[in-house]
Amino acid sequence: MSENRSRTNEPDVEGVRLQKVLSQAGVASRRAAEQMIVEGRVEVDGSVVMELGRRVDPETAVIHVDGTRVAVNSDRTHLLLNKPTGILCTMSDDQGRPCIGDYLRERQGRLYHVGRLDVDTEGLLLITNDGELAHRLMHPSYRVLKTYLAEVPGPIPKGLGRELRKGVELDDGPVKVDSFKLVDVNDGRALVEVVLHEGRKHVVRRLLKQVGHPVQRLVRTAIGDVRLTSERPGAIRPLDRKEIGSLYRAVGL
Ligand code: URA
Repeated sequence: MSENRSRTNEPDVEGVRLQKVLSQAGVASRRAAEQMIVEGRVEVDGSVVMELGRRVDPETAVIHVDGTRVAVNSDRTHLLLNKPTGILCTMSDDQGRPCIGDYLRERQGRLYHVGRLDVDTEGLLLITNDGELAHRLMHPSYRVLKTYLAEVPGPIPKGLGRELRKGVELDDGPVKVDSFKLVDVNDGRALVEVVLHEGRKHVVRRLLKQVGHPVQRLVRTAIGDVRLTSERPGAIRPLDRKEIGSLYRAVGL
């Protein structure tokens, strides 16, 4: 008996029915998934499938619904960690310093963190075993936006956003932000939101220092459409179907 059949208890045929794969992935009930299929909303490996008898291998099939990729391979892990400050962004540390691997010990299999946050930076870190997705999310050519909240000394001059959008010269080349916003001012300090698709080391700290506003606290709040919500520091949660779909879409998978 093949692996698929033993896992799904389906009769002696290859693969799993497409509507069952979709319902197991949480897209819709099996009946609603059938409707989506006959309406031509489902693609398997780049081709629209409109017949209900179609069987697929959930471990290898690339399935899109309404143009958005659906994660159907149950071996894939997509997690969000709210990284606390003081934690190294490595899976293990030979000097025994606290690192993000400490939060993932009980998770099975090899996991990767998508990019890095400085030891003093907090916030959203994606963790996955989906190598191609991780690679593309980190690569600047896919222009996936990362959003940061930075606490800096105020006041913030009026033209700062324009200057940052135009580009600022750093030691290793120019950097431009995609957007900049003053969020709050309190007691001589300002809270600013910086959005950019760059992943260079310390880029937000170096950029804001260069324009005279050294960072006192830095939190990453979003990658693409995936946002930190109310996770406490150190908390981990699985991404939901929409979040995973939005990441795949952002990098053309
Ligand atoms: N930019 C920084 O300066 N630090 C980070 O951790 C991430 C982006």
